Amino acid sequence: MLFGKKPKAPAEAPVGLVDLHCHILAGVDDGAHSDEQMFDLIRLEYSCGVRHLCFTPHFNPALFEPKPDKIAESYAKARAFVQTNFEDMNLYLGNEVFMRPDTVERLRDKSCKPLGDSRVVLSEFHPTTSYSEIRMQTVKLLSIGRTPLIAHIERYDKLNDIDEIYELKSLGAKLQINTEAFLSQKKKLISKLVEQGAIDVVADDRHSRERGEPDLKASYIYVAEKFGEAAANALFIRRPLNILNMI
Ligand SMILES: [Fe+2]
Repeated sequence: MLFGKKPKAPAEAPVGLVDLHCHILAGVDDGAHSDEQMFDLIRLEYSCGVRHLCFTPHFNPALFEPKPDKIAESYAKARAFVQTNFEDMNLYLGNEVFMRPDTVERLRDKSCKPLGDSRVVLSEFHPTTSYSEIRMQTVKLLSIGRTPLIAHIERYDKLNDIDEIYELKSLGAKLQINTEAFLSQKKKLISKLVEQGAIDVVADDRHSRERGEPDLKASYIYVAEKFGEAAANALFIRRPLNILNMI
């Protein structure tokens, strides 16, 4: 089993899950590399019950040259595919923005964008970034009317103090974990934060089928079994939908 034990209840995740972090758009980063792979991953998301899917190609000029035309072209293909095959699926476009000193300027000149039409920016940091730097960038984004959704918080070596994590929340940041966070070295801290309702979003950060991330359906069932169905609905549906509506 993906999480080491057989889920008991509920037997099925509901239809209507929300995925706010994935690399499914073809040919724009280290995610899907062909249209066929992109369509296959959209099928996977749909089969998991996802009905709101936000593509978040990396915006990290040091690693990936941003290609706005290619993103627009792939997004148009994805929309056409979904309209033909999965008409009740809603698509959105954003970026996973690697936070740098010039991020505010890049948001202003629209080199990168928030999630869909919202003001929320999926914000990624280097794994060794200090807490004070994460805090400083959080304050900076909030000062221009943007809300950071800090990506995969389980990955940051220096983000271990629960009081500091709560300080980021009290400032206004939202917190995202990947489905694999429940298997990570920080699983105790992550479980505590989920129990306390401090996590806003679980996403699968999907790049391919081969990387083996637990999918959203398996993760929903795990969370529902361990923390209760209300917690699972909040993490996979209600809070991510609220984020898309933070305009
Ligand atoms: Fe990502």
